[in-house]
Amino acid sequence: MKNILVTGGAGFIGSHLVDRLFAEGGWQITVVDDFNDFYSPEIKHANIAEHLKSPYYRLVDADIRDAATMAALFAEYKFDVIVHLAARAGVRPSLTEPILYTETNIIGTQNLLELAKAHGVEQFVFGSSSSVYGINAKVPFAEDDRIHQPISPYASTKAAGELLCHTYSHLYGMRIVCLRFFTVYGARQRPDLAIHKFSKLIADEKPIQMFGDGSARRDYTYIEDIIQGVRAAIDYDRTQYEIFNLGESQTIELRELISLLERSLDMHAIIDHQPMQPGDVPITFADISKSRELLGYNPTTKIADGIPKFIEWFIDSSK
Ligand SMILES: NC(=O)c1ccc[n+]([C@@H]2O[C@H](COP(=O)([O-])OP(=O)(O)OC[C@H]3O[C@@H](n4cnc5c(N)ncnc54)[C@H](O)[C@@H]3O)[C@@H](O)[C@H]2O)c1
Repeated sequence: MKNILVTGGAGFIGSHLVDRLFAEGGWQITVVDDFNDFYSPEIKHANIAEHLKSPYYRLVDADIRDAATMAALFAEYKFDVIVHLAARAGVRPSLTEPILYTETNIIGTQNLLELAKAHGVEQFVFGSSSSVYGINAKVPFAEDDRIHQPISPYASTKAAGELLCHTYSHLYGMRIVCLRFFTVYGARQRPDLAIHKFSKLIADEKPIQMFGDGSARRDYTYIEDIIQGVRAAIDYDRTQYEIFNLGESQTIELRELISLLERSLDMHAIIDHQPMQPGDVPITFADISKSRELLGYNPTTKIADGIPKFIEWFIDSSK
């Protein structure tokens, strides 16, 4: 049986990863999560309700910024793998609380890297973000493009996390895989993210704020595809340090996305036009040729199929 630590394992992506590891079997899973109120902690508790029933699951309610508590955890348990997903996520809130983002996403990440180094953890997978590409003009974004143009504190902290990962891998021979997630959606999606937020507002017949003229393009990735990529990254051993894009490699304009939601909900959106927000990038678009080749990543859910699945979950969970 392998020991895995999933930080942020009560969150959206982390709880799906835990589902996947349970389905597979052979894993002793430890989750560290601080259940902060970035969005309702009740949602996070609901995400893990089933997990808590398993004898192969251990929940540690703790903050990754707390180095002493993290050190005590590593002194008690030996982890073979760490999948580090705990973070302050979200672009716009990072403009109002930039220090909190730095402390969580940079210091928190470094605390874990230090402990992974000290305890000889075999595999470290870091949840990074497409936002590191910032306002790069060249699309699709490829992993070896320069990432010198982030435009939000969140994006900068994720880029810094990747740099720390590279440093630790280089200095201490640690195997580290950084995954750049492109906006993830599906059951249990964070309520602050557009697809979920818009669905709720449309369903409640309330106006949705559309920032910009609706032409901003995003590469939305279905949760099952992301989990397939994360799972492959856990086994990845062809190189010591690698960065992979995990997207669908297809983009959709914001206004098309709203139409898709309207069709799936069978309701009309009331649109409140607002200027483009600071920190928001005009496009995200993943080049996934490297992930396909080296990681065996193979996303299969197109947005036109994924949105109805999301809405099915949304309607069920709102009952
Ligand atoms: N969802 C996306 O579209 C997306 C896109 C790009 C990158 N990411 C990254 O993927 C990871 C997971 O994202 P998500 O959407 O599941 O977010 P999420 O907020 O649902 O999950 C993150 C979890 O980390 C926990 N956490 C936050 N700060 C912590 C701390 N200091 N100590 C312990 N736990 C803490 C939270 O309570 C939460 O449960 C994050 O690192 C995020 O930046 C997500």
